[in-house]
Amino acid sequence: MGSACAKVILFGEHAVVYGEPGIAVPVPQLRISAEFSTDGYTQYRHDMRIISDRIGLNSSYSELDPNQPIRRLLDLLKTEFGLRELPHKILTIHSDIPPEAGLGSGAASSIAIIRTFSEETGKALSAQRVSELAFEIEKIYHGTPSGIDNLVIATGQPVFYRKGHGGELLTLKQPLPLIIANSGINSPTREVVGDIRANFSAHELTIREIGKLAAAAKTVLLENDLPRIADLMNENQRLLERLSASCEKLNHLIEAARKAGASGAKLTGAGRGGNLIALYRNEADRARIKAALTEAGATIYV
Ligand code: MEV
Repeated sequence: MGSACAKVILFGEHAVVYGEPGIAVPVPQLRISAEFSTDGYTQYRHDMRIISDRIGLNSSYSELDPNQPIRRLLDLLKTEFGLRELPHKILTIHSDIPPEAGLGSGAASSIAIIRTFSEETGKALSAQRVSELAFEIEKIYHGTPSGIDNLVIATGQPVFYRKGHGGELLTLKQPLPLIIANSGINSPTREVVGDIRANFSAHELTIREIGKLAAAAKTVLLENDLPRIADLMNENQRLLERLSASCEKLNHLIEAARKAGASGAKLTGAGRGGNLIALYRNEADRARIKAALTEAGATIYV
């Protein structure tokens, strides 16, 4: 059995695709697990069978399109682990992480599968190698990924990341008091990233501003300066709105969270749907924000 957690981007989504810094943290409360079994597996003994509730998949390896992300990953893993054949077993993937919601479900699925192969073969891979393999599949899911999702999930630690410069692991003084809430709107990262890329010249200044903000956020995060973290989250949201990465429902939910006492709130991930994060000051505010978000039509995840 292998598993991997979700992630949220605290600062710098989209800008991180263009070489600006981004900061992401793991979300251990939400996970994807993968495991091999042979129970009742008589029909396809010559092949691997893959079952994933996340994407509604129940198929043998050879029936999958050669470009299907899980099949591409299995091909990579066959080489990586020096296997002559894939195990003739059922690979079941179970997910608590909603897809197309900005929480890294694609990278987490790849990493859970990679870890299951490590268990099965007894060959451990470094976090860096796990991240590199998952990155290959992120390219299929996202087109031009920055690499931040696979890195934060493979290391399971907060990261300050710049494409081309790698990642710096951050040690936070304490977990951030965050609520993660889903807008209920599915939003494929590939589409939002592609759209912003198509209008890059109109967005370039905003992208560079987001980069500066993410660089400043690293220091305040390490100091656990919560009021300043909240201000930077609100400022990042304003810039994401200018980038056209937000949407009416997210804006409405973010406003509801702030009115209920959130000191900072912003979308997380690609946006135009998916999830938002809200920073709270105390338990009473936390309960109020959760109630206000639910009332405004969100589902609370964490
Ligand atoms: C996706 O979690 C975050 C984006 O910045 C895309 C990426 O970094 O690959 C929107």
